[in-house]
Parts: sequence; structure tokens; C-alpha cells
Amino acid sequence: MTAPKKLFIKTYGCQMNVYDSERMVEALGEQGYVETKTAEDADMILLNTCHIREKAAEKVYSELGRLKPLKALNPNLKIGVAGCVAQAEGEEIMRRQPAVDLVVGPQSYHRLPQMEAKTREGSKALDTDFPEEDKFEHLKSRPKAKRAPAAFLTVQEGCDKFCAFCVVPYTRGAEVSRPAAQLLDEARNLVGRGVRELTLLGQNVNAYHGGMTLAALIRELAKIDGLERIRYTTSHPNDMGDDLIAAHGEIEKLMPYLHLPVQSGSDHILKRMNRSHTAESYLRLIEKIRAARPDIVMSGDFIVGFPEESDADFEATMELVRQVRYGYAYSFKYSTRPGTPAAERAQVDPAVADARLQRLQGLIFEQQQEIQQGMVGRELSVLVEKPGRNPGQMVGKSEYLHAVHIDEANAAIGDIARVGIVGAQRNSLTAREI
Ligand code: SAH
Ligand code: SF4
Ligand code: F3S
Repeated sequence: MTAPKKLFIKTYGCQMNVYDSERMVEALGEQGYVETKTAEDADMILLNTCHIREKAAEKVYSELGRLKPLKALNPNLKIGVAGCVAQAEGEEIMRRQPAVDLVVGPQSYHRLPQMEAKTREGSKALDTDFPEEDKFEHLKSRPKAKRAPAAFLTVQEGCDKFCAFCVVPYTRGAEVSRPAAQLLDEARNLVGRGVRELTLLGQNVNAYHGGMTLAALIRELAKIDGLERIRYTTSHPNDMGDDLIAAHGEIEKLMPYLHLPVQSGSDHILKRMNRSHTAESYLRLIEKIRAARPDIVMSGDFIVGFPEESDADFEATMELVRQVRYGYAYSFKYSTRPGTPAAERAQVDPAVADARLQRLQGLIFEQQQEIQQGMVGRELSVLVEKPGRNPGQMVGKSEYLHAVHIDEANAAIGDIARVGIVGAQRNSLTAREI
């Protein structure tokens, strides 16, 4: 028997990339690869990349520069680039960094085994098609390996929304939902391997329509014994159907946390972003969601310094944040992406954008701390995921997605522990089992 080849895979960007990386490991596993956690002993290095902001894309080239010398140490080493930079820049990557042997776009991962074989013959391999066939159907391996208690499940690929700032519709292609039967099958397999919490993934996951709505899919998933928690992300305000809102009040396994990005609080900017909702419609929507599930913790994304954003536009964003009271929110300085409509417009002075970002992040931080502090003294449920840093400590997630450290824990990985919250730190809570 020959020794297994080793695969080192590094994942950037969103959770969809995390899910895809797992599938690539499985696909190359069939080619005799086992995963390694260090680049130095790898026979194949794959960077699963993100193109969402300029910094994310540039990281890839600096990482490739660092990895290149490893080829001198291991002549068998092949280097590949997958993900959204691969899709956006294609052959250009091999031109900029000749050490790259393989470039594969997000919809072609099922072709990786053939591409790997091609690189072993000494050729370069490039595939950035949007093929007719479904990559997931072809990646349907059935490994029996045990899994961590919380897992992702991509239920939808791509995006048709074309927000004026965003590369995703170009890098991931058109919005496609995976058939519900395929997903229920995969979910049962995951639960059989130890998974207790599933996060359903899609760029507009609430627009899911693989033979049923997302709410109906969640209802079906909730019937699976052993699956205790269901989450979904990311949602678009325009696709938040009444059945999904109702599900938050009715399905116990559906966790009280919702990531619902709004991007801006200014209707003028929202219009220029091609978001097709207003600040007011977003606020009304949150009222409806909170009526169905009063304790729900809201999360969002914001872009500051979008072209033409005035002081008044930015103040409208601050006002919206004050009204919503977010448990979590992610805010970014607008980054010009080549090929997107907003790239052609008058850009905001970067120093002004920086100052706005600081103010927004300050406000978000205050809200977040208030909600964290409000958890002290409450009883929560924690899905235990791993041992903590201190002896006897375990770490997991609350139903609201807080990281919770349980001291002197009896609970094991995969258990759902009832805890009392005794303290709140910047990014986590501490707790005792009840
Ligand atoms: N599909 C999701 C989010 C996808 S990208 C949605 O529609 O909400 C994640 C976040 O990155 C976005 O919500 C947005 O806030 C941010 N983002 C996307 N493009 C960006 C750009 N060009 N500059 C800065 N931030 C951006
Ligand atoms: Fe990008 Fe908009 Fe699609 Fe989200 S909805 S992925 S921000 S184009
Ligand atoms: Fe990045 Fe692609 Fe996800 S651009 S955010 S990895 S869909």
C-alpha cells in the first residue's frame, strides 16, 4: 500500500466556503488524500478563497507567495486555488503566481479528482464553469466519520439579487436551491454521525424553494430525532415570508437568532445599492418577527462609505441601529469591486468613511454589550462543542449564539447543558451548570 497523500486546505470568507471545504476534503479523500493541519507536510495545498472585499482577495496572493518556497522542499507539492477569487480571476491567478497548478471555481468542485490527476501528470488544471450538473449530487459521498455537534448544510447556491456593491452573483452564479429530499437525506446522515445542530446556508437562504419553502424544510428537519437545533443564514429582508416568521414562534428547535442584513438606514443609499427595500419596511419586518418570537436576537451587516453616502445618509444608518438594538452586527467600509455597478460611481473620501465606520462600530458595540450583560442571571441552554482553555471548562453556544464558557462542567461534547449565566465578557459569557 502506498502512503496516503496529504491535503492542507485553508478556508477564507463565508460559511458556504467552510461547507465546500469539507466537501472537497471528502472528494479528494476518494483519491487517497487525508487532511493535514500543516502546509509543510502537504502534497496538495488548496486555498478556498473569498472575493467579497479587496483585502480578502489580496490576502490570497500574499499567502501564495509564502507557500511557493514549499515547492522546493517537496517536489510533489501541488498548489490549488478554489472559491470566489478562483472564479473571479481564473487564469490571471496562474499568471500572477506561476506556482499555482490548479484553479477551480465554486460550482466545479466535483471535478476536483480529475483535475488533481491532471496536475500529477504535470499539466495545469483550470475549471471555472457553471456546469449544468449539480455539484452536490456528484459530491454525495457517504463517509461514516464522526462529526462535531454543530454543522453547516448548504441548501442554496448563488444569488440573483445583484446588489450594486457585491461580487457574489458573479462568483457563485445564479441562485439554485438543492432538492429538499437530498437535504433531508444529508441531514439524517449528519445526525447519525453526531451532529445536533444544523445551520442551513445560502446567500438568500430564506428564498429557498427546493420543492418547498424554507419554513417547510425547517418543519421537516425538526422531525429528525437527535437533531436538536436548527439555524439558517443569510436572509434577505425581501424574502422573509410569513410562514418563516410564524415558524420562529412555533418550532422549538428553530433557534431565536436571526441574521438579517440591511446594509444602510438611508432609503436613497438603499435604492442606489439596488436593495429594493426601505429602512421603514425593514423596521416593520423586525416588529413582525419580534411579535412572533419576542426574545429573538437580531444580527445584521452594514456597509459605510458606499458611493454618494452623505452625512445625513450615514446618520440614518445610526438611527436605524438605535431602533433595532442588535445583538451582533458586522460593519464594513465599502470596498470597490471591479465589474460591479457601484465601482463606476463617485467614491466617498476614505478618511470620512473610516470615521463613520468607527462611530457605527462604537454604537454596535454598546448595544451588543448591553444585550450580553442582560444575560447575566438568566438560564440558557448550551450545546457543548469543545473543551475550554482552563481545566474542567467546556465551551459551547447558547440558543442566541453567544459563546459560553462553562466552568467545572459535567456535560460532554454534544450535550445540551442547562446553565446559569454568571458573567459577561467582551465576546463571551461564563456559566455554571444547573
Ligand atoms: N448575501 C448576504 C451577504 C453576502 S456578503 C446578504 O445579502 O446579506 C456579506 C456582507 O459583506 C454583506 O452583507 C455586506 O455587508 C458585505 N459586503 C459585500 N460586498 C461588499 C463590498 N463591496 N464592500 C464592503 N462590504 C461588502
Ligand atoms: Fe451580495 Fe446582495 Fe446577493 Fe447578498 S443579496 S449576496 S449582498 S448581491
Ligand atoms: Fe466571499 Fe464568496 Fe462567500 S466572495 S463571502 S467566499 S460567497
